[in-house]
Amino acid sequence: MKISILSIFPEMFEGFLTTSIIKKAILQDLAEVEIVDFRLFTKDKHNRVDAPPYGGGHGLVLLYQPIIDALKSIKTKDSYVVMMGPAGNTYDQNKVKSFSQIQHLILICGHYEGYDERILNHVDEVISIGDYILTGGELAAMVVTDSIIRLLPGVIREESHQYESFENNLLEHAQYTKPRKIDGFSVPEVLLSGHHKNIDTYRSESSIEKTFKYRKELLEKAKLSPEQEAIFKTLKANKNKEDL
Ligand SMILES: C[S@@+](CC[C@H](N)C(=O)[O-])C[C@H]1O[C@@H](n2cnc3c(N)ncnc32)[C@H](O)[C@@H]1O
Repeated sequence: MKISILSIFPEMFEGFLTTSIIKKAILQDLAEVEIVDFRLFTKDKHNRVDAPPYGGGHGLVLLYQPIIDALKSIKTKDSYVVMMGPAGNTYDQNKVKSFSQIQHLILICGHYEGYDERILNHVDEVISIGDYILTGGELAAMVVTDSIIRLLPGVIREESHQYESFENNLLEHAQYTKPRKIDGFSVPEVLLSGHHKNIDTYRSESSIEKTFKYRKELLEKAKLSPEQEAIFKTLKANKNKEDL
């Protein structure tokens, strides 16, 4: 899969692309990431990529011409074009999965006060990473790129995805590592027992409990086994008693 990112701040991506799992995925040719500086495409004699908004107002708006010329220089019939923007569809794990199937994803990073709305005539979808305002689309593009690359085949072990949060609308079970006891806090005994069936049961229960505690609304959409359903019912009953 190839991801092309259109930005006027290519230096923001240096650390991101040369660290940890993303770096390895690129070096192993499991993913290709290209940063396209659309300032190089401007026809403005002062090299500008922005201008004040028509109608007045604060700040600067990104020009149509440099972004669209940059886009045209890289777009193919397999490309899917996404504008990063707070007005877009909220990014979630289902979107990560569908984006990871695309051959060529193009992410456009807005900046300053935003971009000329006419750019959206060349865009397939606008994506927001949450209800808050970032300085620019660069961090949002990194979030999208990171979450997709770790799903690509060979990047991390397939089994790692199996119990990850948001699989089947559940959060991942609690995790513990060395030492067995610290500051009076112990690891649950069952995890030290070596009894795989009991460990699986503990993890399944822990996943339901954590989802109930932090993201109760997800549980309503999850496909639960009869055992998990029973735990969910008990948690709900206990909560109702507490609330009385
Ligand atoms: C300062 S913001 C512009 C915000 C715009 N004036 C508004 O009120 O909607 C600059 C750019 O950052 C990016 N951006 C900001 N917040 C974002 C978010 N939550 N998700 C995705 N991109 C975002 C967009 O590309 C946006 O054009």
